[in-house]
Amino acid sequence: MNAVYEKLEKCLKSVRDKVDFVPEIGLVLGSGLGDYGDHIQVEAVVDYKDIEGFPVSTAPGHKGRFLFGYVNEVPVVCMQGRVHYYEGYEMSDVVLPIRLMKMLGAQVLFLTNAAGGVKTGFHAGDLMLITDQNAAFMPSPLTGPNIDAFGVRFPDMSQIYDEDLQQIVRACASEMHIRLREGVYFQLKGPNYETPAEVNMVRTLGGDAVGMSTAVEAIAANHMGMKIVGISCISNMACGISPNPLSEEEVIEAGRSVSETFTELVTRTITCIHKSL
Ligand code: HPA
Repeated sequence: MNAVYEKLEKCLKSVRDKVDFVPEIGLVLGSGLGDYGDHIQVEAVVDYKDIEGFPVSTAPGHKGRFLFGYVNEVPVVCMQGRVHYYEGYEMSDVVLPIRLMKMLGAQVLFLTNAAGGVKTGFHAGDLMLITDQNAAFMPSPLTGPNIDAFGVRFPDMSQIYDEDLQQIVRACASEMHIRLREGVYFQLKGPNYETPAEVNMVRTLGGDAVGMSTAVEAIAANHMGMKIVGISCISNMACGISPNPLSEEEVIEAGRSVSETFTELVTRTITCIHKSL
């Protein structure tokens, strides 16, 4: 059997030995956004370190656990902390948690992240609906033998971010009277932030925000047929646009500063997505 699939089955069994909760939506909380977990009516917590074979996240601002519970009666599994490629994991491990959430029952993947603003006019603290992505500089998480049980060898990526779910986010933002940015999320490997020349490249290639996660997760989820929605918290203007050097603390602080609006938008969106399924 395929080694990646075998590992996932082990992780699935390990989680299922602890909880029988079946989520409808898988929610990934990005840097500085983990406090959203306080708004979930938690039924069970599973630390990543207690899942056999699971890649344990080491990034600052990431707790490293699954929360199983309800957002307004909608069953969700929430990742407080994700696994990044720059931590040194194989790409198959980076997307393992995403695949696991699908195997646990999640039909929808709600991705959030902190990202650097690239598009002129964006500001730190903006929320950006992800409409498309560029992961061309990343190894594909689908490299290696195809796992036919998950999806086809050459999956279509013409609409990674589900158009109906995008409409739901727009409608929720409009009800809240908040300004929602939209744009293309561009993933680079990290962990170093970009040089001004790299930010120029991202802009030239059509990126509106730049980050170190999310796009490869979306590829793996799309391969498995999940419906995907994504929101970036623009935590800073990317290097070369802002005159100040960038720090991890700034990124995490920006997430905190926007947390009230972010919380309401995520909760409203989850509630509406549930009604639409
Ligand atoms: N670049 C890459 N990743 C990021 C940034 C950035 O400016 N801000 C938050 N995550």
